[in-house]
Amino acid sequence: MSKRDEQNETSAPPGVAPRGAYATAYHAPVMAQAVAQQLVTDPAGTYVDATLGGGGHAAALLDALGPEGRVAGFDRDGEALREARGRLAEAREKGRFAAAKGDFAQLAPLAEEHAGAPVDGVLLDLGVSSRQLDAAERGFSFRKDGPLDMRMDRESGRRTAAQVVGDWPEGELEQLLYDYGEEPRAPQVARAIVEARPLDSTGALAEAVRSATIPPEETKTLARVFQALRIAVNGELDALEAALRALPGVLEASGRVAVIAYHSLEDRRAKRFLRHGHFEATPVRDLYGHRLAPLAPVDGSPFTAAEEEIQRNPRARSAHLRVAARRPDEAVAEWRKRVADGGS
Ligand SMILES: C[S@@+](CC[C@H](N)C(=O)[O-])C[C@H]1O[C@@H](n2cnc3c(N)ncnc32)[C@H](O)[C@@H]1O
Repeated sequence: MSKRDEQNETSAPPGVAPRGAYATAYHAPVMAQAVAQQLVTDPAGTYVDATLGGGGHAAALLDALGPEGRVAGFDRDGEALREARGRLAEAREKGRFAAAKGDFAQLAPLAEEHAGAPVDGVLLDLGVSSRQLDAAERGFSFRKDGPLDMRMDRESGRRTAAQVVGDWPEGELEQLLYDYGEEPRAPQVARAIVEARPLDSTGALAEAVRSATIPPEETKTLARVFQALRIAVNGELDALEAALRALPGVLEASGRVAVIAYHSLEDRRAKRFLRHGHFEATPVRDLYGHRLAPLAPVDGSPFTAAEEEIQRNPRARSAHLRVAARRPDEAVAEWRKRVADGGS
């Protein structure tokens, strides 16, 4: 795991609302201006924000659009929906904004029902919001003691983080820590977790993890372990892959997608799919050497935050913004054929 992966729990100093364009105490959207600039190609178009959070990026998109332009927002966290609906009440009243609860693993039916897909652009700003991290009762943070929950959608039937650390065999925990946290001390940490059972608070889990690491590594290990559990509890990588696969069908020809990833497991998947239309490192080409891919990365992508933004919002340091445009129908048809024929 690279340095940028360990930045996920960074936030502005306690009690200080991060400032900047479109930031609120709930969340400071990363690269908001760049996202709107890159995504909006038709001011009268329809755009999907599939990770609505506090509505910061949606507000930036609405500002970049003309009076005819619309944004449909989704989030699987009911609290985020309430926040965004309140913030964007005026746009809602004008029929320019609508929000619905949903998991972007179901991007195609959600976009169909709420945005009349195909649409002109889709935003995926991955991971958790500052509000989710800051709320001790959500159980996402190793810095705050709270119940070991970590579900983004608390109404879902998903297992909690307490159930994962309580029930999973040691070997499976170890694998989870390798796969989703790239944690080098996975065997020691998995052992410590099993020995410390029962664990039902973030504080108790953090204590068990600390007992299996060495002080200079402590914060990094905690960040990796909490990230790994969060990914497993919410099925984050499966949802991302499903959303990426749905994009060629959800976007208009030339419509764009913007993906903001905060760690390499997500960024690698986004990069590969946006370039190749699959999750392997190399492209598939036809007999003439043409790439068989449904999307084409936009020049300059990935974009990263300017130092000034990173200073006021440290979370921006780890962000990679990747943008791609949907290729013409023939390219998408070729890609679909390749997938149907059993290609990746
Ligand atoms: C980084 S925050 C987005 C912040 C938002 N862009 C803003 O400006 O406030 C990520 C949001 O995506 C939501 N989320 C994560 N995975 C999701 C999924 N599979 N489906 C729907 N929402 C998801 C989280 O609940 C969280 O609110």
